Amino acid sequence: MNTKPYIINTHSHVNMLEKTDIDTAISNAQNARIIIIVPSSTSKDIFDVDKFIRKYDDVFGYVGVFPEEVWDFSEKTLSDMENIIKNNKKIIGIGEIGLDYYWDKSFKELQKEVFIKQIEFANQMNLPLNIHSREAHQDTLEILKKYNKNSTAILHCFSGSLEFAKECIKEGIYIALGGVVTFKNAIKAKEVAANIPLEYLLLETDDPYLAPVPYRGKENQPLYVTYVARAVAELRNTTADEIAEITTKNAERIFNFNAK
Ligand code: NI
Repeated sequence: MNTKPYIINTHSHVNMLEKTDIDTAISNAQNARIIIIVPSSTSKDIFDVDKFIRKYDDVFGYVGVFPEEVWDFSEKTLSDMENIIKNNKKIIGIGEIGLDYYWDKSFKELQKEVFIKQIEFANQMNLPLNIHSREAHQDTLEILKKYNKNSTAILHCFSGSLEFAKECIKEGIYIALGGVVTFKNAIKAKEVAANIPLEYLLLETDDPYLAPVPYRGKENQPLYVTYVARAVAELRNTTADEIAEITTKNAERIFNFNAK
């Protein structure tokens, strides 16, 4: 009997792997009892994610439009998302949505508008939010405070300070950490991993990006979430299994599912 705890990888673009065979990457994860949640990015690839996750056991999905892809977002996108959600029980959240001021600040206002619309939609559907926030921490938090009524929010690939993490947790927001915590120079991420209450921590990979040490610089894959669990465990003087157990419980609570 396998008694290894499940790990919920709350953010994996396993459908975008190029150097690794996708079926192999998924069976690697399944064999290690890793459950994967795949985000969408555009008003078109919501359909691809819908189809993709139906093919595999233990692979779930989010529908949502990424901040850099907001140009063709429309009312139709929301009705498409609604149809997908109604017909596919494996869609368990809205994501990845949010704000990104790193690449281009010129369409901040449009990003905010689309973010707000998707928060309101998630509230209506009663689904959690998987949020991308890059160099936009204060705006992200303000918008969530103002517009999010009833959806649990997760800040994916959290890149803020410990102080900001605490501010978010006060609002009931969850912190998801990925491969960055394994990087030697990632002082902020390590500080967050070591100090936030574990009841608000989630694990992810954001593959194919941000592979953890010892694969840093190579293509990431969902299995490598185990290295994230191990790094967090080391920082907290506990075991990777305990981190897996607690973060799985957190994810089960948020996504209203049972890993068994
Ligand atoms: Ni992502």
